[in-house]
Amino acid sequence: MEANMSKRKEPGRSLRIKVISMGNAEVGKSCIIKRYCEKRFVSKYLATIGIDYGVTKRTHFARLMTMRYILITSQKLHFVYLSFYLKVRNEFYKDTQGVILVYDVGQKDSFDALDAWLAEMKQELGPHGNMENIIFVVCANKIDCTKHRCVDESEGRLWAESKGFLYFETSAQTGEGINEMFQTFYVSIVDLCENGGKRPTTNSSASFTKEQADAIRRIRNSKDSWDMLGVKPGASRDEVNKAYRKLAVLLHPDKCVAPGSEDAFKAVVNARTALLKNIK
Ligand code: GTP
Ligand code: MG
Repeated sequence: MEANMSKRKEPGRSLRIKVISMGNAEVGKSCIIKRYCEKRFVSKYLATIGIDYGVTKRTHFARLMTMRYILITSQKLHFVYLSFYLKVRNEFYKDTQGVILVYDVGQKDSFDALDAWLAEMKQELGPHGNMENIIFVVCANKIDCTKHRCVDESEGRLWAESKGFLYFETSAQTGEGINEMFQTFYVSIVDLCENGGKRPTTNSSASFTKEQADAIRRIRNSKDSWDMLGVKPGASRDEVNKAYRKLAVLLHPDKCVAPGSEDAFKAVVNARTALLKNIK
């Protein structure tokens, strides 16, 4: 971290925060920051070449924080920046307190790519890099483009919250969610600094299990009712009922608060009904 931790505990002291924004090209990383810092939206696409850099100052609880934003584009290996960028790449990831992971809700690829962005960061930080003392916020951006939306809120929220990350629905165009996202992000970063560099457990990450999150994802991606219940096509009534009971206990709305669990539970009920109709 850039500032000395012990100094951070003194009230009113200035904090210097380094934030990295990551995500595929054109998802709106630059526009989100522009919307917050300059209160405006630029509809013309100007790709960030290599790395962009900006600074803003915000007062939070009478404490001055300097946010250094670094944007990393998906066009990571761009001409003039290439050698410079490759040589110092891990320097950019190092000493980061906050990461904004952005995807476009109308581009499934950009959502699927978040795992790769995280993996890249982890790799660049190396075995001694600690991701636990970084606050991550996921921005599901371009929510104003409702017609093209293909990643719904529960899917994005489930991914983020199962990793203990914050999740916000944003539109850099209308400004929706942007201030709330940055406000919560700042508060979490300050808390993290004052907690001695440990990421606080978010409510949601503590409230559902990996097994529940995995089951919801599997149900969402299943190709038919057999697949949804996790049984082989042609399975017996008993096998269907057994698989159903297991999922029903795992995902029952009284027991499971994971994003998307209600829809997953309904889908499982419907799958069982459909299968039992056709099994003698
Ligand atoms: P790179 O720098 O290439 O990595 O892209 P970026 O992620 O910084 O994207 P940028 O912010 O430049 O936005 C890409 C395009 O999406 C631009 O044409 C923006 O006007 C548009 N855009 C960004 N955010 C939104 C949004 O919330 N809604 C809509 N409708 N368009 C947006
Ligand atoms: Mg950009």
